[in-house]
Amino acid sequence: MYSWILRVNTVLTLSVTVLAALCAVASMTDGLHRPSPAVELKVLNVGPLERLRNGDDRIALTLSIKADLESVFTWNTKQLFVFVAAEYWSPEEGFNQISLWDTIIEKKENAKIDQQIKSKMLRKATRVGYFTYPFQGKDLRGRDFNLTMYWNVMPISGAFFTDKAVVPGFQLPISYN
Ligand SMILES: *[C@@H]1O[C@H](CO)[C@@H](O)[C@H](O)[C@H]1NC(C)=O
Repeated sequence: MYSWILRVNTVLTLSVTVLAALCAVASMTDGLHRPSPAVELKVLNVGPLERLRNGDDRIALTLSIKADLESVFTWNTKQLFVFVAAEYWSPEEGFNQISLWDTIIEKKENAKIDQQIKSKMLRKATRVGYFTYPFQGKDLRGRDFNLTMYWNVMPISGAFFTDKAVVPGFQLPISYN
């Protein structure tokens, strides 16, 4: 009886160890993988800058979001959470990050993105599988901003990590209309 339990225990421990070792190898080989993503973010149109009742400013941007994240995928990739954020500095608040668009990519075959979006409304577009959010913040007049695409990589095993591509050099209108 005793030895039977012991044996089961040993087999279990062994298989857990083997599994753990496999996982370690998985995330190690994954770490050697060097992806070469291509990202192109453009502002196609800038809507009027509005002052809202609550004192915030809001602006509608039409963006072109193009990316090829196929090379980010390995056999150990479960999914990518991808988002595009406008980032700017303000004297009052320091670093600001406003998410304008996000999506989840579960397959390498879907890792090529080519979309035109308008950032104005909060809406869910299930057919194409992404969300858009408004560009809203304190006094946006004349702000210089960057568009940054982030991708959070969720692996099947191992720690998740984030990478990004920054496209700098955009500016908001200097006055309301
Ligand atoms: C925008 O990008 C430039 C150039 O990469 C960088 O120096 C600057 O700090 C960025 N601004 C923000 C708010 O991240």
